[in-house]
Amino acid sequence: MEKTDKIWINGKLINWDDAKVHVMTHALNYGTGVFEGIRVYQTPKGSAVFRLREHVNRLLDGCKVMGIEPEFGGRLYDAEGIIEAVKAAVKANKKVDYIKPCVFLSGEEVGLNPVGVPASLSITCIHMGAYLGNASTEGAKLITSSWHRPDNLCGPAGAKVNGAYVTSCLAKREAVRQGANEAVMLNSSGHVAECTGENIFIVSRDKILTPQVSECILEGITRNSVIDVARGMGYEVIETRITRTQLVTADEVWMTGTAAEVVPVTSVDGRTIGTGKIGDITKKIHDRFHEITVGKDPKYSNWLEHVD
Ligand SMILES: Cc1ncc(COP(=O)(O)O)c(C=O)c1O
Repeated sequence: MEKTDKIWINGKLINWDDAKVHVMTHALNYGTGVFEGIRVYQTPKGSAVFRLREHVNRLLDGCKVMGIEPEFGGRLYDAEGIIEAVKAAVKANKKVDYIKPCVFLSGEEVGLNPVGVPASLSITCIHMGAYLGNASTEGAKLITSSWHRPDNLCGPAGAKVNGAYVTSCLAKREAVRQGANEAVMLNSSGHVAECTGENIFIVSRDKILTPQVSECILEGITRNSVIDVARGMGYEVIETRITRTQLVTADEVWMTGTAAEVVPVTSVDGRTIGTGKIGDITKKIHDRFHEITVGKDPKYSNWLEHVD
């Protein structure tokens, strides 16, 4: 991947090539960490981080669930401390568009009771561009994965736990092998949950539906933003259970995620969605969301945390 200048780690900004861990790092062996993905946009007032506080709160909630004390390099961090650290990391790199903070058990330890193993926080800023490439604008092809979305009995389904992402990796590879762009995962009840790194929305008879949080999804920050924006535009948005039949017979489908943003879906398992073109409601939501992120909608200016 393309390197950037500096990585923030435990209070220090260091060069990309110096950000290394030991092979016995607990998180490397057991996946004991939580992470975030956050977008940075260029606005008329300079670089702005989208919904930074919400991402930091989700990161800290994940630490709590995993029993990780947010003490990095001898300092206990609260939300304000992490917000300042993220801003410092963005400022130290040129025109980045994606931030990946990662809290991980960085102590060298063998065993599954990592009490007392020290944690680290790294904040890496990169140039990502369009996560789903041309599919972002032309529409994505989805398959239904043979891998299920891990539920709340397999781990904390609502937290971004590093180790839990092996399922997303397997499902994504399955999709790409089959010539698709993304995979939708079902939960253990067989309902539509989410994609490997995105939430999912459908339009059915002018109503917008999305899986409710208890369906074992990540409560996406883009999902919450889009629900807010759509309701503000006068659409009815219902958080509910969605079946595979509802998904493939929907008039429109789109995905939301920090990396992907708002991406239209044009087919699922080889079946065309709606007309096979980007739906009208999808387009309106996509365009409105884009305007908000680049600072063109004063109503949502509090979603942008300026760094300059
Ligand atoms: C599994 C999963 N679902 C949904 C999302 C979308 O969440 P957000 O909009 O907060 O990026 C992500 C991305 O973080 C994800 O990894």
